[in-house]
Amino acid sequence: MENNLSPTSITYNLETRFIGQRVIYYPRLTSTMEVAKREVQQGAVEGTVVVAGEQTVGRGRMKRTWLSPEGNVALSVILYPSVVCLPSLIMVASLAVVHSIEEVSGLRSQVKWPNDVLVKGRKVSGILIESSVRGKVVDYAIIGIGINANLRLSDFPELQPFVTSLSDELGKDVPPLNIIRRLLVEIERLYLTLPAGNAIYREWRDRLVTLGKKVQVKSGETILQGIAESVAEDGSLLLRHPNGSATKIIAGDVTLRDYE
Ligand code: BTN
Repeated sequence: MENNLSPTSITYNLETRFIGQRVIYYPRLTSTMEVAKREVQQGAVEGTVVVAGEQTVGRGRMKRTWLSPEGNVALSVILYPSVVCLPSLIMVASLAVVHSIEEVSGLRSQVKWPNDVLVKGRKVSGILIESSVRGKVVDYAIIGIGINANLRLSDFPELQPFVTSLSDELGKDVPPLNIIRRLLVEIERLYLTLPAGNAIYREWRDRLVTLGKKVQVKSGETILQGIAESVAEDGSLLLRHPNGSATKIIAGDVTLRDYE
């Protein structure tokens, strides 16, 4: 599909105060996370956004790769939050994705803990958050968002059972520009609510498909199984094991699978 992304088309009349007021666009790059980190080192202002038409080495969570061909959404947002707000960034990002998808495509989406976004049970978006914290000071946080806007899953049959795209669901192309502009507005709106308390926690919790399900959590070499009982305001998951004991799972370093 035609790619009409450019910094001007993204920022034009964008209704934000700082997020997306500075956009760096590359038609093709390795990973927006890599470029965003370089921007941080050069003193980028908060809200700077790196957008790629296509990524050649898109990064996923747990050192996985992220498929990021042209037509999809791939961006990173640079933030300098307080340490108190840091755990809520997964809620900001996943709700921003859910809201933007719904507004632009009309498709209802849900969150799989901690921050995958699903449409009809298949993954449509992934979120990666990288940060550097020293004591109580956050040097930076970078939110990376990938959305399968126009991925043709018939080209990737091995992914089809687990992955979908907005265009496959709708049977027509979805302009990445509209999704990106909506995303930036939503990220800022949700992010600005954080200092007043974690008002978005409840909505995030209510959007989770995970709660009440039997899940398997993989953290490094350890595999835990149990029922996903609840999530706390810091984003952690409480896993109840068959013997009645419970484990608190922190989002950062785990993958989660349904199992039966
Ligand atoms: C995951 O589900 O594993 C997270 C995927 C995150 C992908 C996005 S695309 C934009 C940004 N740049 C990257 O290299 N990764 C994130």
